[in-house]
Amino acid sequence: MYSEKVMDHFQNPRNVGEIADASGVGTVGNAKCGDIMRIYLDIDDNQVIRDVKFKTFGCGAAVATSSMATELVKGRTVEEAMQITNQAVMEALDGLPPVKVHCSLLAEEAIHAALWDYAQKNNITIAGLEKPKSDIHEGVEEEEDEY
Ligand code: FES
Repeated sequence: MYSEKVMDHFQNPRNVGEIADASGVGTVGNAKCGDIMRIYLDIDDNQVIRDVKFKTFGCGAAVATSSMATELVKGRTVEEAMQITNQAVMEALDGLPPVKVHCSLLAEEAIHAALWDYAQKNNITIAGLEKPKSDIHEGVEEEEDEY
């Protein structure tokens, strides 16, 4: 049911950990399954993502997608990182079962939340980046509209 790449990233996740004094940190949760993901970004003066780490309290697919997402954004500029969607992460993992697609969204949202934090701290705007729907740092869980 899972591809070899998913199993590999689940069993040997890349970039697990924290970054002290990170340029941006994003924490998101999925209200339905209760899983939580946090991404730390270290971004240099040229807006290149020098390092990235993640921590996840979540299912195996969430671990595998976060691991792959960190691999994909490392070394990229913040603008390039914006192009890395959950679709791209899933493709890089050779797919996920349909019931696990929402897990890959957590990785995308956590990266966006960390980029948002970075943009706020540095008073810059990143094209296409919107305020995260559910950054847990904000405290209150906002209800997401169903659509
Ligand atoms: Fe919640 Fe996978 S089941 S992130």
